[in-house]
Amino acid sequence: AFLDFGILKGYVPYMLEGVYVTLLFTIVSALFGFIWGFILTLFKISKVTPLRWFATAYTSVFRGTPLLLQLTLIYFATPQLTGYDISALMSAGLAFGLNSAAYLSETIRGGILAVDRGQREAAMALGIPYKTTMIRIIMPQALRTILPALVNECVALLKESSLVSVIGVQDIMRRANIIQASEYRAFEALIFAGVIYYVLVLILTSLAKMLERRLRRSD
Ligand code: ARG
Repeated sequence: AFLDFGILKGYVPYMLEGVYVTLLFTIVSALFGFIWGFILTLFKISKVTPLRWFATAYTSVFRGTPLLLQLTLIYFATPQLTGYDISALMSAGLAFGLNSAAYLSETIRGGILAVDRGQREAAMALGIPYKTTMIRIIMPQALRTILPALVNECVALLKESSLVSVIGVQDIMRRANIIQASEYRAFEALIFAGVIYYVLVLILTSLAKMLERRLRRSD
């Protein structure tokens, strides 16, 4: 037939495993990216010049080169340099986390700068230590401001995660390619993957909208 979505029926559990891989991968790299991104932000606003230089150069390089290149570099060059194999999933998490941190460090920095400086001055005047001020006073306000940007980053990670299919991680994209190859049909398998990605993105953005509304109410 011209179009036959019936061929996909047997592949539903197979694809669901791919959804699991994609989601797990996205969550792990988002968390890693956020933590490392936050540390980079601290470097960027620190008084120690070499730390600031490092974080700036880091961001510039990771945003200035293709993610696909970073991914394949880590995956294929690590064994060459160290003699140890690195699993596809591990290199993918590393590449995406390192890359996302570069973007997130700018996002977080923007959020922190947007918090009125009077807050920090007041905390200082009260003798509250820097760390406590940062964690208890500045960050909660900054997080609320950058929440939409954080969701955007997760959406970007989710979609870009399809790149990991090129190093053999069995994510949604990879599985769609495999279905395509074994059924000699491109359209059905790829549309299947596309619909799944789209639904995942819709879920993510509506969760974020709910969260945003909750936060606004507590204002
Ligand atoms: N497509 C971009 C690249 O090839 C990666 C974008 C990643 N974006 C992000 N916000 N994490 O480099």
